[in-house]
Amino acid sequence: SDPDLVARATAAKAALGDRVFVLGHHYQRDEVIQFADVTGDSFKLAQQAAARPDAEFIVFCGVHFMAESADILTQPSQRVILPDLAAGCSMADMAVLGQVETAWEHFQDLGIVDQIVPVTYMNSSADIKGFVGRNSGVVCTSSNAKRALDWSFEQGSKVFFLPDQHLGRNTAVLEMGFELDDCVLYDPHKPNGGLTDEQLINARMILWRGHCSVHGRFTIDSVREVRERVPGVNVLVHPECRHEVVRAADQVGSTEYIIRALDAAPAGSAWAVGTELNLVRRLALAHPDKQVMFLDRTVCYCSTMNRIDLPHLVWTLEELVAGRVPNVITVDEKTAHDARIALDQMLALP
Ligand code: 13P
Ligand code: SF4
Repeated sequence: SDPDLVARATAAKAALGDRVFVLGHHYQRDEVIQFADVTGDSFKLAQQAAARPDAEFIVFCGVHFMAESADILTQPSQRVILPDLAAGCSMADMAVLGQVETAWEHFQDLGIVDQIVPVTYMNSSADIKGFVGRNSGVVCTSSNAKRALDWSFEQGSKVFFLPDQHLGRNTAVLEMGFELDDCVLYDPHKPNGGLTDEQLINARMILWRGHCSVHGRFTIDSVREVRERVPGVNVLVHPECRHEVVRAADQVGSTEYIIRALDAAPAGSAWAVGTELNLVRRLALAHPDKQVMFLDRTVCYCSTMNRIDLPHLVWTLEELVAGRVPNVITVDEKTAHDARIALDQMLALP
């Protein structure tokens, strides 16, 4: 990265000292990660944001829904800053509160709402987390989805899972022994989700039709191809991948899990990793004694994660030094209150 920008970021961060705490998601660019006080998956970063009540500014190098969650979990006096406001998440955008409320009203009309526990993946707007909190549900991340679903099925007999169909299906079928037929796909763009009353009444998992376009690019052919090319390769993927990809893989887990799996891997082993490219490249560099490769032949960065770059980070830190506070992410009080119920429920999972 540009040595001038590195020097400016270093100087600004030193000038701010403990007043600033920089969080970096594993999908961030190297040039940004080098300035993170803590790196992590979505779950760890949510915990870490809450663990630094003395830091006046939390600079969140990640995407919008993560910064919103950090704002909800931090003290009212702390300010959470997203270095580029355009760093959203296309998956989170696939579930809009009005659509979710329409679905819920339909479940009410069908008389099944009392059996349903709403569960939302962290990758959702604060509005959606608020809806889930108001309706006695829970937030989950890719590192605790099974625990969240286990808890939910103690509270009710059905789960309404938002917004990532793949995490929901993969967890239910591959980790909890559900049948594929226990899951139905609710399409918000079709009347009644495109489902019959009978389908909704019989389903155990009602999956929202959302997905991650980055992880959606890995296919069963990517897995077949790498197994042919590299005999003995271990295929390690994120649970946001399609069901058939996860089924064909050797291991599945969150970004933090993927990092630990590579740390524990023996020298000389080969790994094809199905997740965002910044992380896979960093893992390849960190493990020169292992063969670490990207699961697919085409590159696949998360374009919104990549919006946070060193120029944006430098600008943010220098603004703070100058006494201005840019790009503050604030969740309104009522939404934050409700969303916090669902987030606290997640943090309290056994
Ligand atoms: P985790 O960091 O929780 O594995 O999530 C990956 C992701 O897609 C975040 O957007
Ligand atoms: Fe959203 Fe996918 Fe990017 Fe994660 S990788 S932030 S789920 S678009």
